[in-house]
Amino acid sequence: MSILVTGGAGFIGGNFVLDWVEQSDETVINLDKLTYAGNLQTLASIKGSAQHVFVEGDICDRGLVDALLATHKPRAIVHFAAESHVDRSIHGPGEFVRTNVEGTFALLEAARAYWSELKDDEKAAFRFHHVSTDEVYGSLGPQDPPFAETNPYEPNSPYSASKAASDHLVRAWHHTYGLPVTTSNCSNNYGPFHFPEKLIPLIITNALAGKPLPVYGDGQQVRDWLYVKDHCSAIRAILAGGRLGEVYNVGGWNEKPNIEIVKTVCALLDELAPSAEGSYSRLITYVTDRPGHDRRYAIDARKIERELGWRPAETFETGIRKTVAWYLENTEWVRNVQSGAYRDWVAKNYADRAEAK
Ligand code: NAD
Ligand code: TYD
Repeated sequence: MSILVTGGAGFIGGNFVLDWVEQSDETVINLDKLTYAGNLQTLASIKGSAQHVFVEGDICDRGLVDALLATHKPRAIVHFAAESHVDRSIHGPGEFVRTNVEGTFALLEAARAYWSELKDDEKAAFRFHHVSTDEVYGSLGPQDPPFAETNPYEPNSPYSASKAASDHLVRAWHHTYGLPVTTSNCSNNYGPFHFPEKLIPLIITNALAGKPLPVYGDGQQVRDWLYVKDHCSAIRAILAGGRLGEVYNVGGWNEKPNIEIVKTVCALLDELAPSAEGSYSRLITYVTDRPGHDRRYAIDARKIERELGWRPAETFETGIRKTVAWYLENTEWVRNVQSGAYRDWVAKNYADRAEAK
């Protein structure tokens, strides 16, 4: 038995693949294009494992996906591959439409062709799990209840709009063709192997390098943070017991304003890697806000708890401590992903963000 994972050299997909190999006997076929966000060093600990087959390629390449399905006959597809960074989607939305919308379409069509030819029992057991984001629901006011699965879609960024489009395709392939799909919409993840363009790893790596810690706008935007291993366990639970055609919201019950996240990371670094120049919080710098910046995300994760018994294992306090410790112990991984292309991105994204007084 095997499963096909897309985007398994990225942050969440990589953690999912590592956990899968550790916890299951099944082989995982890992299709990843190795964009700037994909990194084989994340998978170094399973290099050579017979349970992991890495294939460098594009989900938009229908011939390649057809061939992988025909060769490996997976019982499920878990679809992580995406362009995932909101700031990059503002600078260049085209790649987001290509991978997130056209790529999901190509994958769904390949899955449908493969699935429709399976024997009845295999057909009934097959699953296509689509990994999506809470950002499709838009932005909450301070007193609004958290996002439920029934919230209307109101995406505000090119990233969230492209993910919303992909969610709609997945839904339609179930309703129209009967493809056995499930979807999860998850809140902000953090943890090991997180690319340092996103808030938490950026703050850790900038602080250790003595660089400014850029906080967009007033720093009061709220996100609901989930430790990445908890997201992986939620996906495994949905794959095992999720109802077909259903959407499950996944979150950490952990809403925090960005500035609090940044101060917590600084305090942990002060404890674990103190700087001779004083607290890392001295580096906090308010900068020009992100255009169209969503104010608040929060997840109502009661459905997945009620139906599948899933709850996060980590609190924010335990998860963020593990995360900071991981970055302190894995400086080589960080150094390797901070290539020339990474430095070019940092220069582009932060060049026009004048320090706010
Ligand atoms: P990531 O950017 O770290 O990794 C994406 C991976 O997909 C990379 O390995 C990249 O090489 C690969 N990829 C990109 N385009 C591809 C293509 N055309 N074909 C094949 N592979 C391709 O992203 P992530 O943070 O791990 O997110 C994974 C999924 O989870 C995404 O679908 C994202 O929308 C969703 N999600 C992320 C978060 C979060 O906080 N990071 C929260 C909720 C949902
Ligand atoms: P990010 O990690 O990019 O995730 P998302 O935009 O998908 O929520 O950003 C998390 C929050 O942190 C978001 O409100 C934007 C903010 N942020 C900063 O304040 N400074 C930064 O340098 C970055 C990258 C993000």
